[in-house]
Amino acid sequence: MASRVPPATSRRSFARFLAAGAGLTVLAACTPEAPAAVAPSSSSPVPAATISPSATPTAVESTTAAVAPPAQAPAPPSAAAALPRQFSLTDPASPWVVVNKHRPLAPADFAPADLVKPKVQLAVSGEAALLNSTTAAAAEEMFAAAARDGVAMTLASGYRSHGTQVVTYNGYVAARGQADADTASARPGYSEHQTGWAFDIADGGGVCGFQPCFADQPAAVWAKANGHRFGFVVRYPWMFHPITGYYYEPWHLRYIGVEAATDMVGRGISTVEEYFGVAAAPGYA
Ligand code: DAL
Ligand code: ZN
Repeated sequence: MASRVPPATSRRSFARFLAAGAGLTVLAACTPEAPAAVAPSSSSPVPAATISPSATPTAVESTTAAVAPPAQAPAPPSAAAALPRQFSLTDPASPWVVVNKHRPLAPADFAPADLVKPKVQLAVSGEAALLNSTTAAAAEEMFAAAARDGVAMTLASGYRSHGTQVVTYNGYVAARGQADADTASARPGYSEHQTGWAFDIADGGGVCGFQPCFADQPAAVWAKANGHRFGFVVRYPWMFHPITGYYYEPWHLRYIGVEAATDMVGRGISTVEEYFGVAAAPGYA
């Protein structure tokens, strides 16, 4: 998806940072959710994200210089979506809900009403194999299209209940401390996985699963280039953590619908915060 050039910083140190938590990354994930009737939003649009992707690299990245920044400067963030506001940005049953460190789920214990198991290759079982019905249908189409292109893709983590997120997040905190945990795992009530609109992918053999090198695996490359055709975007792109609040997760796909995803990618917008015109959320308020 998004083609905007990332800001200058060290990809190597970033990779090291992520690799350090690779064993735990497996605990983190996203969950897509049911189609459900999306309620039109009556709220007025908010100003576009205020933090440019080229601004404020974290200390972790800025302390190392390994990868030279691209010569071309990033394009300025676009204004809010060109598409007319069709769906709520706050209702967790809406495909356009924006969940981030400033925008917790409401209610905090939200659970999708239409969780189903998609007919795709599963790398997990139980709750984590579920998605909401809209996302599941789109995932089935996407996985089938990837297979036709010779790309193996598995569902590595789908729905995550509030209770599961408590366990997941606490595991990160125990292993890495809260500051590090917050760059990779959402706090309970703040994860897209709980909405059912997002999920994590892996390739057929689990190569580089939940690790930075997954970005170069065929499944990730294919999903990044083609996901929008099925309504998906890479929710946490590389170096956009000042906006999204999380480091690069090439495995985490979020459903926002074919029209919006295609429009977002076509306009070179990298984050849903920018696309839907809501404030950046680099940290918890
Ligand atoms: N890893 C993503 C941010 C989550 O925990 O929802
Ligand atoms: Zn995820």
